[in-house]
Amino acid sequence: MGSLKKEGEMEQIGDEFTEAILYVNGVRRVLPDGLAHMTLLEYLRGLGLTGTKLGCGEGGCGACTVMVSNYDRTSNKCIHYAVNACLAPLYSVEGMHVISIEGVGHRKHGLHPLQESLASSHGSQCGFCTPGFVMSMYALLRSNKTPPSEEEIEESLAGNLCRCTGYRPIVDAFRVFAKTNDALYSGLSSLSLQDGSSICPSTGKPCSCGDGRFQPISYSDTDGAKYTEKELIFPPELLLRKLAPLKLRGDGGMIWYRPVRLQYLLHLKAKHPEAKLLVGNTEVGIEMRLKRLQYQVLICVGQVPELNTVNVNDNGVEIGSALRLSELLKLFRKVVKERPAHETSACKAFIEQLKWFAGTQIRNVASVGGNICTASPISDLNPLWMASRAEFKIINCYGDVRSVRARDFFSGYRKVDMESNEILLSVLIPWTRPLEYVKEFKQAHRREDDIAIVNGGMRVFLEERGGELFVSEAIVAFGGVAPVTLRARKTEEFLIGKSWSKGLLQDALKVIQSDVLIDEDAPGGMVEFRKSLVLSFFFKFFLWVTHHLRDVKQALETFPPSYTSAVQSFARPCRAGRQDYETVRQGTAVGLPEVHLSARMQVTGEAEYTDDTPVPPNTLHAALVLSKMPHARIISIDDSESKSSPGFAGLFLAKDVPADNKIGPVVADEELFATDVVTCVGQVIGVVVADTHENAKAAAGKVEVEYEELPAILSIKEAIATKSFHPNTEKMLKKGDVEICFQSGQCDRIIEGEVQMGSQEHFYMEPHGSLVWTSDGGNEVHMISSTQDPHRHQLYVSHVLGLPMSKVVCKTKRIGGGFGGKETRSAFIAAAASVPSYLLNRPVKLILDRDVDMMISGHRHSFVGKYKVGFTNEGKVLAYDLEIYNNGGNSLDLSQAVLEIAMFNSDNVYEIPHVRIRGNVCFTNYPSNTAFRGFGGPQGMLITENWIQRIAAELDRSPEEIKEKNFQVEGSITHYSQTLQHCTLHQLWKELKLSCNFLKARRDVDEFNSHNRWKKRGVAMVPTKFGVSFTKTFMNQAGALVHVYTDGTVLVTHGGVEMGQGLHTKVAQVAASAFNIPLSSVFVSETSTDKVPNASPTAASLSSDMYGAAVLDACEQIKARMDPVASKLSFNSFAELASACYFQRIDLSAHGFYIVPDVGFDWISGKGDPFRYYTYGAAFAEVEIDTLTGDFHTRTVDIKLDLGYSLNPAIDIGQIEGAFVQGLGWVALEEVKWGDAAHKWIKPGNLVTCGPGNYKIPSINDIPFNFNVSLLKGNPNSKGIHSSKAVGEPPFFLASSVLFAIKDAVKAARAEVGLGSEWFPLDTPATPERIRMACFDEFTCPFVSSDFCPELSV
Ligand SMILES: Cc1cc2nc3c(=O)[nH]c(=O)nc-3n(C[C@H](O)[C@H](O)[C@H](O)COP(=O)(O)OP(=O)(O)OC[C@H]3O[C@@H](n4cnc5c(N)ncnc54)[C@H](O)[C@@H]3O)c2cc1C
Ligand code: FES
Ligand code: FES
Repeated sequence: MGSLKKEGEMEQIGDEFTEAILYVNGVRRVLPDGLAHMTLLEYLRGLGLTGTKLGCGEGGCGACTVMVSNYDRTSNKCIHYAVNACLAPLYSVEGMHVISIEGVGHRKHGLHPLQESLASSHGSQCGFCTPGFVMSMYALLRSNKTPPSEEEIEESLAGNLCRCTGYRPIVDAFRVFAKTNDALYSGLSSLSLQDGSSICPSTGKPCSCGDGRFQPISYSDTDGAKYTEKELIFPPELLLRKLAPLKLRGDGGMIWYRPVRLQYLLHLKAKHPEAKLLVGNTEVGIEMRLKRLQYQVLICVGQVPELNTVNVNDNGVEIGSALRLSELLKLFRKVVKERPAHETSACKAFIEQLKWFAGTQIRNVASVGGNICTASPISDLNPLWMASRAEFKIINCYGDVRSVRARDFFSGYRKVDMESNEILLSVLIPWTRPLEYVKEFKQAHRREDDIAIVNGGMRVFLEERGGELFVSEAIVAFGGVAPVTLRARKTEEFLIGKSWSKGLLQDALKVIQSDVLIDEDAPGGMVEFRKSLVLSFFFKFFLWVTHHLRDVKQALETFPPSYTSAVQSFARPCRAGRQDYETVRQGTAVGLPEVHLSARMQVTGEAEYTDDTPVPPNTLHAALVLSKMPHARIISIDDSESKSSPGFAGLFLAKDVPADNKIGPVVADEELFATDVVTCVGQVIGVVVADTHENAKAAAGKVEVEYEELPAILSIKEAIATKSFHPNTEKMLKKGDVEICFQSGQCDRIIEGEVQMGSQEHFYMEPHGSLVWTSDGGNEVHMISSTQDPHRHQLYVSHVLGLPMSKVVCKTKRIGGGFGGKETRSAFIAAAASVPSYLLNRPVKLILDRDVDMMISGHRHSFVGKYKVGFTNEGKVLAYDLEIYNNGGNSLDLSQAVLEIAMFNSDNVYEIPHVRIRGNVCFTNYPSNTAFRGFGGPQGMLITENWIQRIAAELDRSPEEIKEKNFQVEGSITHYSQTLQHCTLHQLWKELKLSCNFLKARRDVDEFNSHNRWKKRGVAMVPTKFGVSFTKTFMNQAGALVHVYTDGTVLVTHGGVEMGQGLHTKVAQVAASAFNIPLSSVFVSETSTDKVPNASPTAASLSSDMYGAAVLDACEQIKARMDPVASKLSFNSFAELASACYFQRIDLSAHGFYIVPDVGFDWISGKGDPFRYYTYGAAFAEVEIDTLTGDFHTRTVDIKLDLGYSLNPAIDIGQIEGAFVQGLGWVALEEVKWGDAAHKWIKPGNLVTCGPGNYKIPSINDIPFNFNVSLLKGNPNSKGIHSSKAVGEPPFFLASSVLFAIKDAVKAARAEVGLGSEWFPLDTPATPERIRMACFDEFTCPFVSSDFCPELSV
């Protein structure tokens, strides 16, 4: 029974409660007491509403987005908003209506137009993010009275991450709901193809937009008249219901209060001074879930009317402390329209700052007071409250109110001037006066939805005296530079009374340097960057004020026009994209841009992933016991505390493993559970099982391990210095003789250098997970796993349990992204879960939390390449000598193969007569690194493109010219002796150069740069060649099982896994065309080791080729058996034929098999054909950087790829865009940071970037403004299934065009200080820190020299 007191009756009625309720998708639910610890997400998923996903649990990915509707009693309106269910406490939505994806549309009852549009636009690949996107958009539509603008749509999606699509199709799917762009969907605006048909800008398919299929969807169609009958209404009971206080309980004695009057809140605060207040729970929730802080008394103050007041009067605006940030944004936007411009300088600054504050879901719940009282040193708003003369009204539990100036409120690290019996009541922000200017600043890793590295709020109030302007008041405040929001007091004092002039700027910049001091080992690192940002921000502020003063004071000393670039803020234009391809139809389905077969299930949330599978009764939940040391001997393990933990059911260690504890995909050099020594932080020591996931985690956390620390190797450089390599991994490839060439004098120049690149986290949206159970009295073991390699799961589980493989089955229906991360590392999860499952004879589910997943499951390998290159003065490369090292981590895993692929790809597309490549896999004390899209290829190619750039710099030529001079041609022989056949590189390059109008782009960029001192643009073109095949010959095999049923439908099973890449769709297309039946007659259910045995992992971009061919083989066998019947009689349908065959006793089932022919490489001779064929491509990118902050955006990307005759061009375009954006993350955004010599502020061997809060994958705002993809036409591939080519990995490297365009822009910036011709390195990822520090200027030179490179974990 819920416990809810009626308003105002609290004290009188004592314990007389009525029920607490919630509506979920129109259904009334009574909320029982005792769930105060529970999130809305846990509750919904517990109800079986598993469409809402758990991606991160920290508000950073949007997978858990639902819509909350609440009746606002002040405005008498229903308000609808998107929230992150993973952070929303269940009781925080009491009395509200929650709509999850299941309440929006359903395949059986009809999809919502949003869902239809997303599915048909190819906006869902793996589908794990999809319900979240739909819900964000749905909430936007329902909350807007008028159709939203395209900008609003993109803004509303900023808190949703997708790792597969590259976002473009999602934007396109939703922009049809915008009011602005009806013209886009007229035939006129579609891009015309040569044959007269056109490409729809929404779907990327040839279509006739006028035929009604892709009509713009007007708002009323969605939320109004036409769709009303399907839209869930706000429950009338909730309209009539009176808001009442709540007192409910949760686990561990937790008490949840919801006062609805200030008086009662103050009474509670007096009674429980230690209580935590909360509104959005976006801070408290993180503290409790991630930092594991315990709060016994929680007081939810979001519905206290006195804390939600807004009062706009002549003095300014007074804002209640519980006001949500999205409401604050609306309020400021309104007052800016209504009040005189000079009064709202501060409001405008807040508007700008709030634009980049978190995502919409967070802003919808996070409160003004929550942000202020948390007193985070990187709060985005606190520097602005300080700057804008805000006053905080504080009330104590006796009702006494006092005011504190914001600038005096923050007293230390997360400390404020407030007693435990006080709360923040409201904030008063005064209007600004004429000649008073307030400005916001923020620089983060990623522009959108990211916490700041440094932010700031600055204000000056000027007075005119004797024709001059003097500073009368000044506030200069920074976040991110100290444990507290810092006022640069000396600078403020210095400014006061001074005349506003250029001279003042120079002097003030000197004072600031002594004012803002950051310790060398300050938490967060990036010390030089942060110091430079402080100066750059102040410079920007000075320019900005001066710029504004021109309107009032023309005679003012001004800066050159090119300096305006420093004050222009980033404006997000609407995206545009073009997808151009030919459709070569083969049979009924092959070649057509069919929609992903699961798309309609994914957009409705019906698609099941591992964690969604209903669990068998008696299921236990598992959590891992992990090493906390990078290298140590285990002295003892104490499980006494853990055993008494609630729900504990068992702890299993190495000694409990029934058979062999040693495993590994290539070499068995890993232990399932560590025995004596741990070799990385995050190594698994054991597994705890308990009745719930939370209890398992708590019990695992209580296992005490005592260690004896041993020396650790924490970088490639340390590994090289100590010769710490994995055994037998040294490899060499050779062509010609580099030594002779270098000595011969043929090379006019010889350069030597080093390229290093960081690693990358896979960040598949669905974390690792496995559900394992036994059957038949424990004689068999079954599992459902999120893996790219069910076969390996079967193998590992049978190995550690000592069972024959025939008794172990692994099934995988679909996975929420893999990208290589679930090729081998997933098998450890299944094997760990199998031990307790087998020993206890109970089902065990092990789903990794995002932070654990990121910490233990390995990354893309970081690499170091030491090169020596000889070339002529004309730019012809003659010799290339490379030593290449990758960071394997603490076990070999696939690192050897990754290194080999890097070595193979080290020529990229260049003909080099003399090549020597020597490689080694470094052993380091990190979790084993593993496969990741490209599998080492991008790293090998990136080293090459780096020295190509350097040659261009040496010779003062363009990099593109050097590339063209060295291109391979038809018949070129690689350094591993494979001959290039059907090389389409030149054609692609030529077509791309024309389509992007490279020469004009170059001229335009140069022109722009000459007029803009502080913003620079850059362009680059990059080619790629990617060999397709597993380099281990035996892996190039595939099996399939095809059944034809008497109703004419076909069930296909094959060894490949559907992870969003559309494999099942393509394979089904192959089967449909083979039998000449519609695609809808073919079904691919799941991947299962008992249907197709011994399958290779779904990897190497090869699966469509291999499984398509295996399925075709099976279909041909069945067809051959059917042919005699078919030739005798005529049948009206395939069903009739199948039925007739059945009666003729013909076997309608066949096993198909395929081996990739003619591949193999011998490392001893260094010769062979490791690849079946190559996929070629090229890309152009144009970027713009802010040289003062390192902020950048990609203006245009044009990609051209040769995919032969694409099996499904729409899916292939999705792969290209997705790979490119993932690659963009690798080259420019995603930085993995470990505790190493470069990052002393992190504990040694620990990963600090282990969640979306710290690790930034591209968001919707990071994709190119113009994103064009085209496929080469008229080039069938004789070596691929139905003349197609592999697509998954090849486009990834093309994202380096963005990196090199950035470098081009940095070069222009350096030219401004006379460094234009000097070569400079730019490590990957080129984050804002690296970009800014490479743009050497007067604001960086006090701290670093021009060759400074920020440290990088490699
Ligand atoms: C994904 C994500 C992104 C984020 N991005 C940003 C960002 O870009 N910039 C940024 O600055 N922050 C960011 N944050 C931090 C956070 O969202 C903000 O600090 C937010 O404003 C906190 O508000 P809340 O209502 O959720 O606080 P809660 O978690 O509900 O409460 C936070 C604290 O404030 C106290 N408190 C709340 N109201 C009062 C009151 N009236 N009187 C006294 N104490 C009170 C509580 O006791 C508690 O200690 C982000 C957080 C997440 C999870
Ligand atoms: S799961 Fe909630 S935001 Fe990621
Ligand atoms: S489709 Fe978005 S994460 Fe896979």
